[in-house]
Amino acid sequence: MATRDYWIAPSILSADFARLGAEVDAVLAAGADVIHFDVMDNHYVPNLTVGPLVCEALRKYGVTAPIDAHLMVKPVDRIIPDFARAGASYITFHPEASEHIDRSLQLIRDCGCKSGLVFNPATPLHYLNHVMDKLDLVLLMAVNPGFGGQRFIEGTFAKLREARRLIDASGYPIRLEVDGGVKIDNIRAIAEVGADTFVAGSAIFNTPDYRATVAALRAELAKADA
Ligand code: DX5
Ligand code: ZN
Repeated sequence: MATRDYWIAPSILSADFARLGAEVDAVLAAGADVIHFDVMDNHYVPNLTVGPLVCEALRKYGVTAPIDAHLMVKPVDRIIPDFARAGASYITFHPEASEHIDRSLQLIRDCGCKSGLVFNPATPLHYLNHVMDKLDLVLLMAVNPGFGGQRFIEGTFAKLREARRLIDASGYPIRLEVDGGVKIDNIRAIAEVGADTFVAGSAIFNTPDYRATVAALRAELAKADA
């Protein structure tokens, strides 16, 4: 079978925030496809990171690559237009963080962005049932959200297979992203169950040579039997 169009999405959560623009430039120069931008509110998740100002600052700094804004924020609707104005390309949120999932998805698209739903390890995929036509991306968390550097939860493999089946059956061109604990030694197995977009924070930013690390991730993906 043909290999998929795989995207590597470094998570800025593990970057050096004092040098964020340079860090983003470095991972893009190293071959990354998308910048994964983790937004935490110390309410929906027990950590606090960055907001639309920092996304906008990256755009003003000159970053042109897609920015994948992963909103771990509740409630989420108020902040969606702000991220659109700040230059986010994808905006994703957790179904538990929205009282009206369909409305939030439409709001993202009305703002001109691509939309996605994020599933925590214990969140069932049935939230997809009636919104496939409003999705550009499905993101499965392989860790509980809030922190980088956690261990990949094995149950995510079966859930990815199920999500891949649902996406293929829908006929929509929806990307299947995985976030948390993705490393050189498991990315191939993750690709083989259907993921096409791979968030990697600590696996990239905690290494000295981003180019070598991204190349190693891609080499593993090249072996995947999609
Ligand atoms: C966790 C974040 C992830 C995290 C991934 O809540 O959504 O994007 O940064 O970090 P690693 O790749 O280190 O598990
Ligand atoms: Zn994330």
